Amino acid sequence: MKDIAIFGAGGFGREVLTIINDINKCCQTWNFIGFFDDGKKKGESVHGYPVLGGVEDLNTWKTPLSVVVAIGSPEVKKIIVEKFCNSSISYPTIIHPSVLIGDNNSVEIGNGCIICASNIITTDSKIGSFVILNLACTVGHDTVIGDYSSFMPTCNISGEVNIGEGVYCGTGAKIINQKNVGKLSTIGAGAVVIKDVPDYAVVAGVPAKIIKYKQ
Ligand SMILES: CC(C)(COP(=O)(O)OP(=O)(O)OC[C@H]1O[C@@H](n2cnc3c(N)ncnc32)[C@H](O)[C@@H]1OP(=O)(O)O)[C@@H](O)C(=O)NCCC(=O)NCCS
Repeated sequence: MKDIAIFGAGGFGREVLTIINDINKCCQTWNFIGFFDDGKKKGESVHGYPVLGGVEDLNTWKTPLSVVVAIGSPEVKKIIVEKFCNSSISYPTIIHPSVLIGDNNSVEIGNGCIICASNIITTDSKIGSFVILNLACTVGHDTVIGDYSSFMPTCNISGEVNIGEGVYCGTGAKIINQKNVGKLSTIGAGAVVIKDVPDYAVVAGVPAKIIKYKQ
């Protein structure tokens, strides 16, 4: 079993721990050693496991360790990941055993992703690194998802959708086929995207309309 830790000891971090536990129920893979989180006190207990420190402690960690970054905000996630500089640390993609991947040969998934329970990814799609697909999302054929993007529970991404880097997609949002979603844009909870979304736009509603741009 390999040592693994979760960066981010909030609610989502504890949910990611349930994925690790479910993977171990199928096949003993991971030895969970604790959380890292700059916002918590080193030595504090979270869900019965220790907080092992923050970015600095991770960067001086001496033994091989796998780390999962459980941070929903794409911007914050990217800032944290770019601070990591320890060659002893690796960033596996963790996939809940219930996830259905239609065609493993044509679906590419980068490092550091978290694919939660009940996701369905069909065929010929490319998912970047440090992407989160929270519970029960669907990803249709020939879709590309950029690094650091995060999808909240039950998002539906249709076929031939192009999603840029660092997109945040709120709970239950839907994107129809052949649309482009620009980098660092935000899609509101429950939105139905039927037109391309520009970079940095915040869109919401049915059909989704631009409500503002990120500063
Ligand atoms: C879209 C979103 C990011 C906007 O947040 P915000 O920048 O704080 O915007 P505000 O709350 O100030 O809302 C601005 C306007 O957009 C409307 N709006 C916000 N979110 C909306 C949504 N999801 N659908 C429809 N309208 C929405 C607001 O009613 C408000 O309208 P008004 O100006 O007429 O009063 C946010 O509301 C959202 O949907 N986040 C997703 C959260 C989520 O899915 N979390 C999952 C955790 S697991």
